[in-house]
Amino acid sequence: MSVIALDGPAGSGKSTIAGMLAEKIGFLHADSGAIYRTITLASVQKLGSGADPEQFGAMFQKSDLDPDGLGIRVVVSDGRQSNCIGNVDVGREIRTPEVTARIRYIADSVNCRNTVNRLLREFADETGLVADGRDMGTIVFPDTPNKFFLEASVQVRAKRRYEEMLGQGNSSQSLAEIERDIARRDEEDRNRAVGALRKADDAILIDTSDLSREDVLSRILAHIQFRF
Ligand code: CDP
Repeated sequence: MSVIALDGPAGSGKSTIAGMLAEKIGFLHADSGAIYRTITLASVQKLGSGADPEQFGAMFQKSDLDPDGLGIRVVVSDGRQSNCIGNVDVGREIRTPEVTARIRYIADSVNCRNTVNRLLREFADETGLVADGRDMGTIVFPDTPNKFFLEASVQVRAKRRYEEMLGQGNSSQSLAEIERDIARRDEEDRNRAVGALRKADDAILIDTSDLSREDVLSRILAHIQFRF
């Protein structure tokens, strides 16, 4: 089936655009970051969170955890992805700063990456997919002709994330803290040995800093080639 690969750094607008696009064209929006988050939360539940992310990382690396044995379930209903551990939908819990600070160890693990990539490819066998992440165009779906890479300055991305959190009634992090987190995550995501954040050579680059969501969406729609 057709796949639209949407990559970019944290806060570049991928998830929002991917959701709008998937709804518009009747595809499934597959949020790969949410699967990494779910594996991270399940690992924290299994191993403990450690005193800090580094300690968690050391425990995770020593543990040899099998990501396929953690009870992760990515459920699709009504064209929407829910992320579950066992029968519990953990859609909210996977977005906490505690999880975000620990993801890098899961995202660095080739075992975990293989699990996520396999799940995504299984979805793509069944249905049209708008897949958002860091390595959709480079590693997971290199053959799709529909690749987009969204960019925006760190400041713009931090402000978006901050406003999004405030909109959800969450004021646990200041704008400066969010900006620091995003800059750190950029660094980690760009320098990962496998699955690093990188624009595929044939991806279309869209700087979303000064564009509305609708503008980004119409630019993408103008380029999509369907292949069934
Ligand atoms: O939504 P946000 O941009 O904060 O991040 P996300 O898409 O939920 O992804 C969270 C983290 O998972 C990223 O910072 C990456 O470390 C990792 N990730 C990845 O390694 N590969 C992907 N395809 C997607 C996410």
